[in-house]
Amino acid sequence: MENLDQIVIRAQAEFAAISDAAQLEQAKARYLGKTGVITELFKGLGKLPPEEKRTAGAPINQAKQTVEAALEARREALKAAQLELQLAAAALDVTLPGRGNSIGGLHPVTRTLERIEGLFRSIGFEVADGPEIETDWHNFTALNTPEKHPARSMHDTFYIENAPDVLLRTHTSPVQIRYMQAHVARHRDAEVMAPIRIIAPGRVYRVDSDATHSPMFHQVEGLWVGEGVSFADLKGVVADFLRSFFETDELSVRFRPSFFPFTEPSAEIDVAFMSGAMKGRWLEIAGCGMVHPNVLRHGGVDPERYTGFAFGFGPDRLTMLRYGVNDLRLFFDGDLRFLSQFR
Ligand code: PHE
Repeated sequence: MENLDQIVIRAQAEFAAISDAAQLEQAKARYLGKTGVITELFKGLGKLPPEEKRTAGAPINQAKQTVEAALEARREALKAAQLELQLAAAALDVTLPGRGNSIGGLHPVTRTLERIEGLFRSIGFEVADGPEIETDWHNFTALNTPEKHPARSMHDTFYIENAPDVLLRTHTSPVQIRYMQAHVARHRDAEVMAPIRIIAPGRVYRVDSDATHSPMFHQVEGLWVGEGVSFADLKGVVADFLRSFFETDELSVRFRPSFFPFTEPSAEIDVAFMSGAMKGRWLEIAGCGMVHPNVLRHGGVDPERYTGFAFGFGPDRLTMLRYGVNDLRLFFDGDLRFLSQFR
């Protein structure tokens, strides 16, 4: 029969060979459980007379303690190994490429529009809005451009079949009419009409497509109507705006006589930078003029009493100039390699 030492050695070897916690508990039962080898030895003591029990019991107790210690040591070792495994699985591999957060950003034209709105708000302008699907009357007729007027051909746009009276607006100028009408209605009972000072940014449409023209593009309309508003005010507001927008005084502004049916006199606004890559080149960036009396009348404003100026900026062009972009289509292609440069 196996002696105590052999039992202990066998238990130790068995525990050491086990690498699974449940199996270890089963092995424990074989030695220390109800019918375990060591438990059986204790049971055997019962038959001995009391004085022999102690001498015979001591080595069994000793063996039991050794087996329990081996068991405990193995349990700890298995726990440590398990933890080691978990840590290894959850380990941070610093050599992996980072996942990062994709950070969104505003579209460059949106940034320009927000900038323009901020600058005009700071000098007391309100931001107004109008529909992109516009009536022929608001887009042309009310703006002193009657049917068959040759100026309509410069604004070839998208019409809607079976709905001859609506079109995609070709400019933001119809907002002038809509705003004047609403404003006049609001101030019907006032002795003196409160001045109108608005800008109206938005999308406009024309049948046009090349590096500097897109069938959809943006405009920012400006309108200031009140008593005694003059062309000098127009020049001051525009020049101040451009210097603030481009953050430089190294800039010349030129008003070149032009024609629009809805302004008289009319001008194109050109800028030239006095330094930098674009030095000395005149670039057309807006149309403007004094609001035509017929337009004031259509807006419900008395042209004998009030005057006003209007302008229409191309914020896409302003964005190209500000960031040095040479192809307008890049703004609308949705190519992230381009757009993410403006984050
Ligand atoms: N609406 C004109 C255009 O689109 C620009 C403009 C606006 C001109 C206001 C004069 C006054 O070309």
